[in-house]
Amino acid sequence: MNDAAVVILAAGQGTRMKSRMAKVLHKAGGKPLVRQAIDTALEIAPRERIFVVVGYQAEQVRAEVEAAGVQAIHQTEQLGTGHAVMCGEEKLASLGGSLIVFVGDCPLIQPDTLRQLALQQRGDGAGATVITTEVDDATGYGRIIRDANGGVSEIVEHKAATPSQLAVREINSGILCFDAQLLWEHIHELRTDNPAREYYLTDMVAILIRAGSRVTAMKIPDSSELLGINNRVELAEADRILRARKVRQLMIDGVTIEKPETVTIDSGVTIGMDTIIGPFAQLTGTSVIGDGCKVGACSIIHSSVLGDAVEVFPFSMVADSRLDAHAHVGPYGRLRMGAHLGHSAHVGNFVELKNTELGAGAKSMHLAYLGDSTIGEKVNIGAGTITCNYDGSRKHRTAIGDGAFVGSNSTLIAPVEIGEGAYIAAGSVINQKVPAKSLGVGRARQVNKEGWKKRT
Ligand code: UD1
Ligand code: MG
Repeated sequence: MNDAAVVILAAGQGTRMKSRMAKVLHKAGGKPLVRQAIDTALEIAPRERIFVVVGYQAEQVRAEVEAAGVQAIHQTEQLGTGHAVMCGEEKLASLGGSLIVFVGDCPLIQPDTLRQLALQQRGDGAGATVITTEVDDATGYGRIIRDANGGVSEIVEHKAATPSQLAVREINSGILCFDAQLLWEHIHELRTDNPAREYYLTDMVAILIRAGSRVTAMKIPDSSELLGINNRVELAEADRILRARKVRQLMIDGVTIEKPETVTIDSGVTIGMDTIIGPFAQLTGTSVIGDGCKVGACSIIHSSVLGDAVEVFPFSMVADSRLDAHAHVGPYGRLRMGAHLGHSAHVGNFVELKNTELGAGAKSMHLAYLGDSTIGEKVNIGAGTITCNYDGSRKHRTAIGDGAFVGSNSTLIAPVEIGEGAYIAAGSVINQKVPAKSLGVGRARQVNKEGWKKRT
């Protein structure tokens, strides 16, 4: 497929989304629609032959295009899908071979289907081949009109269709493969004499046939692959299908997923063998999960790295953090903003770590806030410990040396340092350095008033 080029049309606003954000930036399967389309294209064509037409919110869409390492084409005014392709003439006309054009709002299409499309177009010696399917409700789609011999004669857009054409259930997927040379030879014959006053790419079918060329259809039985996203109901449906595909692939690759229909796993997430994912877990962003981990029910892991055999107990939330092998968190744990658990470190219920490193084998099992802290190996943090990292205007750090023991309900006022092996008496308020191996006590001594009750 090295001489195939791909153009993805992504310049439209997508008014039916009723959104301030361009349609192609909405996400399905954890990826913006345009990125999904680009990633599919990358499976079948070399990077330098993939182009994306941008227009509405061009800056934001272009950022996605560039992040994916492919080229953008600018369509200043959105005058229709045919016009969008015309805008690429300068960059594309010299490429020759086959040109696959596909709408950027069709995220379920599989690379193999695109490969077959290009093969069929060439095999048929066709001016164009269009992917079609039959749907129960063809509302909004272009209809495939066939001649008496069953050949494709034209595509009629919904808005321009007669009542009998509207009854046709075979639809244009929006994915076509052209003989590039013929396309560029005839594309300027497109006119805007239709109800939308747009240049319809779909009119190329009739134009090529008039010019003596053949147009063929590649009809596929699974219409779900061709779902076009025009509103949020369809977006949710595409999301569901993409996630089901992802979960299925993970299971095939050796991940146990309990109640797979309930979990949410973004396409960018990788999970190692023999890891068990509980019901309703969400693994999003660029998370990388090692082998033999457990991610408990209803936990959320976003763009985090888990080493092997890490356990995340139910209802925990881990974002932008790193957990080394055999670390534990939860239930009801929260790690965020660069938290790092060393090997076998344990964080229990209702403990929050922000921008904090907890050394290997260290433990904080109950009810604590550890922010902006560096905590050494095998430290024990008692229940209710709070690092007071914020003074109202600035954040300060807390450093706790290896093997230190912080008694329950301690308040550590940062910046503060607790030396290696030091002890903090329970209930202390600590605002000065505690040297290594010493006991820091920062609380009033207990006074018992004997007979007090009787006197009052
Ligand atoms: C299009 C097809 C229709 C097909 C359907 C499949 C045309 C004229 N119609 O209709 O036959 O059944 O897709 O989903 O091609 N775009 C641009 N520039 C523009 C206009 C649109 O880049 O000037 C892009 C949009 O961003 C979008 C794609 O083209 O990604 C399709 O546009 P949309 O308005 O959704 O076309 P449909 O009405 O769905
Ligand atoms: Mg559409």
